[in-house]
Amino acid sequence: MSGAKFSKNILCIGAGYVGGPTMAVIAAKCPQYKVTVVDINAARINAWNSDNLPIYEPGLLDVVKQARGRNLFFSTDVDSAIKEAQIIFVSVNTPTKTFGEGAGKAADLQYWELTARNIVKVASSDKIIIEKSTLPVKTAEAMGRILNANEKGIKFEVLSNPEFLAEGTAIEDLERPDRVLIGSQLTPEGIKARDEVVEIYANWVPGEKILTSNIWSSELSKLVANAFLAQRISSINSISALCEKTDANVSEVSRAIGMDTRIGSKFLSSSVGFGGSCFQKDILNLVYICQSYGLTEVADYWERVVLMNEYQKRRFVQNMLKVMFNTVAGKRIALFGFAFKADTGDTRESPAIDVAKQLIEEHAKVVITDPQALHNAKIDLADYADKIEFAADPYEAAKGAHAIAVMTEWKEYKTLDYKRIFSSMERPSFIFDGRNILNHEELFKTGFNVFPLGQPNHKHF
Ligand code: UDX
Ligand code: ADP
Repeated sequence: MSGAKFSKNILCIGAGYVGGPTMAVIAAKCPQYKVTVVDINAARINAWNSDNLPIYEPGLLDVVKQARGRNLFFSTDVDSAIKEAQIIFVSVNTPTKTFGEGAGKAADLQYWELTARNIVKVASSDKIIIEKSTLPVKTAEAMGRILNANEKGIKFEVLSNPEFLAEGTAIEDLERPDRVLIGSQLTPEGIKARDEVVEIYANWVPGEKILTSNIWSSELSKLVANAFLAQRISSINSISALCEKTDANVSEVSRAIGMDTRIGSKFLSSSVGFGGSCFQKDILNLVYICQSYGLTEVADYWERVVLMNEYQKRRFVQNMLKVMFNTVAGKRIALFGFAFKADTGDTRESPAIDVAKQLIEEHAKVVITDPQALHNAKIDLADYADKIEFAADPYEAAKGAHAIAVMTEWKEYKTLDYKRIFSSMERPSFIFDGRNILNHEELFKTGFNVFPLGQPNHKHF
């Protein structure tokens, strides 16, 4: 298909959780643009070209179907796509470094740098390059240097346009974003490039929601937004521990403080811990940046948010152990949910991974059920394959179990027939509600010993 009949030629490198849905929405909203998404992973691209998309996201297939083949194309031909594009979004993975300097904290930029070098190698015209992946502050500067150190006389303008979509609500977040942020150099060329990207979003996002800023503010805002969100969860989780020691109920505390409009009610649900590909990675990135500028107190402050999250996961398993007479060895324990949150099959940094591993170390017989994430769960726990069972059906998972632990707030878990489940379990039967989504009184009446998070427990002994 030639690009001539389209007014802009947009490319996204990296067809993952961010690149795929973002480009699908841009293509659906802007039929006048040609939008291509490339990836080096051929299996992923094949899946994007099928009805069996590589990621589970409510509403995504409809949006893809609207535009695919019309002005949305998925391909592995990275080089041709780079040549053709005027605007390139880069959303390759930027995991936390596992080696060398900054291991465990800094972002691993090797995929980004490889992409930048490849763009330089094959490009034959000026281009706007947009950081979509979360990157450490000042990455744009480094990338600008790599890109503009070419001898072909080609100019690259690097912009930052961080993605704020949350998994499970990605389409909604993209169609009706709280804001779109575009950072650029404040030079005439930078502002011209920025205006081109503003024009894309202005097709469906109201003007007052499109913010522009200097490039460093834009890069930093992404890390800070995630750090603030995660901080709220660690804060309420710290209070859940205190509630368990007193007669307070963390849900009542959340409601009471959330009605203060200065605090707000969102992101105050206590849980077994936050997961997902962003929160921990972005905070550790922030910590690393602060450390590298000698801001030890600031770094330590933000690192506590991650340490509190680790504590919450550990505390959850320790509580299970204590309650189940100090041993789970040989006991069947069903984990209800493995995804890091509901409505996604993504398990990256899911607290369920740590909980499963800790239970296996205690020699429990772990069985995992999840409506979307079993495939990823099997990959995450490949080293423990002989010690774990997987069951698509939660009733099967619970059969013969001593305990159920709710890991993910899937709504289907609220409406299961818990009388039926109870009758198939060992006695005494325990439920640990790591998301506080079940009807604890009802479960207690059914015969369960119920241990919510940060709330008084209900036990028969
Ligand atoms: C997050 C940000 O919300 C998004 O803006 C950014 O672009 C990427 O990172 P995501 O990781 O998809 O999105 O999920 P999010 O809804 O933020 O949840 C993160 C984790 O926090 C999940 O494990 C979730 O279960 C947990 N959580 C969330 C709580 O434990 N309690 C809450 O009240 C809210
Ligand atoms: P995110 O959640 O940030 O979208 P993902 O890991 O889901 O991250 O997606 C990143 C994608 O980027 C992967 O599908 C990976 O194969 C792809 N990728 C990594 N390096 C390159 C590259 N040099 N060229 C094209 N695609 C790449």
